[in-house]
Amino acid sequence: MSETSASFRKAIPESEESISLSQILSALSFAMELTDGAMHGHSLRTCLLGMRIAAEADFTMEHRNSLYYALLLKDIGNEEMLGLRCDRGASIVSKLGMGSLAADAVNNLEEHWDGSGHPYGLCGGEIPRLARLGAIAQHLDMFSIGRSPQVAIETLQEWSGSWFDPELVEIALALHRRDALWPSCNAMDSLASTRAAVLALDPHRRHRLDDDQIDRICEGFAEIVDAKSHFTFRHSIGVAELAHGIAEYLRLPAHRVRLVRRAALLHDLGKLSISNKILDKKTRLTDSEWKIVRQHPGLTRQILEQIAPFREIAIVAGEHHEKLDGSGYPNQLMACDLSIESRVIAVADVYGALSEDRPYRAGLSFGEILPILNGLAGHKLDQDCIQALLAYLTDHRPMDINPEISTRGRLIRFCA
Ligand SMILES: [Fe+2]
Ligand SMILES: [Fe+2]
Repeated sequence: MSETSASFRKAIPESEESISLSQILSALSFAMELTDGAMHGHSLRTCLLGMRIAAEADFTMEHRNSLYYALLLKDIGNEEMLGLRCDRGASIVSKLGMGSLAADAVNNLEEHWDGSGHPYGLCGGEIPRLARLGAIAQHLDMFSIGRSPQVAIETLQEWSGSWFDPELVEIALALHRRDALWPSCNAMDSLASTRAAVLALDPHRRHRLDDDQIDRICEGFAEIVDAKSHFTFRHSIGVAELAHGIAEYLRLPAHRVRLVRRAALLHDLGKLSISNKILDKKTRLTDSEWKIVRQHPGLTRQILEQIAPFREIAIVAGEHHEKLDGSGYPNQLMACDLSIESRVIAVADVYGALSEDRPYRAGLSFGEILPILNGLAGHKLDQDCIQALLAYLTDHRPMDINPEISTRGRLIRFCA
């Protein structure tokens, strides 16, 4: 069986590995491509194509840096609503501290040279140059993977001056003629080789992110997951808040509390692969739909494992639906397999989910959740974690709590 959170803690001494922005973003861009109808590896290949054209044109270093992050993150958000996608992508790009140039590029990717694009109908030089280049790069990949590189080049030529900036088209064509445009961007190239080529181009690959920057990125991605369905619009952020509270009340060391919060923020990343037809369904799920839902913790782990310093976060987040008695999923792990960090997130997730509205029921009150937690304590969910949660809620959210059962002594007896 693969490694569990408990065995990981015993086997591997903690190490301070450095982590670069592109390492995180390239793994997380893969997560975004798990959504309906997306093309695997599209952001990575678009980034590579765009950076090659930018290197050939006279783009400044600052512009190239911004282009790199803008293209990795360009598809953040809702695939169906173009305007919404550009807007939200841009706001998240700037929230992640990637600067206004990158945000502007994402915001204007769907503009056309002749003014026929969206969302503003900008024309020629009014469109930021980074966005004009990004539009060419994303077109090249979409047509090359969907049809062939030859068709991608022919359509690029055909739409030069209508959709695309003619000067940048010429540069792309020159690269194509020299066989310098497509390496690691072909349909038969592995995603791993494309990813390696993208990471090698990272302008900041030697720049180590600090803890606050990593936290901000995790929060940005929690927002993306939460935005997928209006029923979960604050789920990951809320679970992270509760998990952080539980971990502090259990007096875990500060670096373990941080790990718990990051794993909680990212725990449902794998849900990006589940169709909204299933997530928002008001009636009972069929067996095959339920099977799809049960894959999401494994996918979360698979995505996060691509970021080497996130190995433990990947394992802990991937265990959020496991139960102490082996009745959870996806691996039916037992109590001895589950670390305290993983148990904290399982408790926070159950409380968060019960308190939120779902397509088939309204959110439950504290008084309704308490007996449910009580019934799960000890055999499914960790009792100490539940007690820590109740103590945390008593101190921090007294308004949520029915006054009759709000004394801490009573709460603890409830789950004993
Ligand atoms: Fe989940
Ligand atoms: Fe969850």
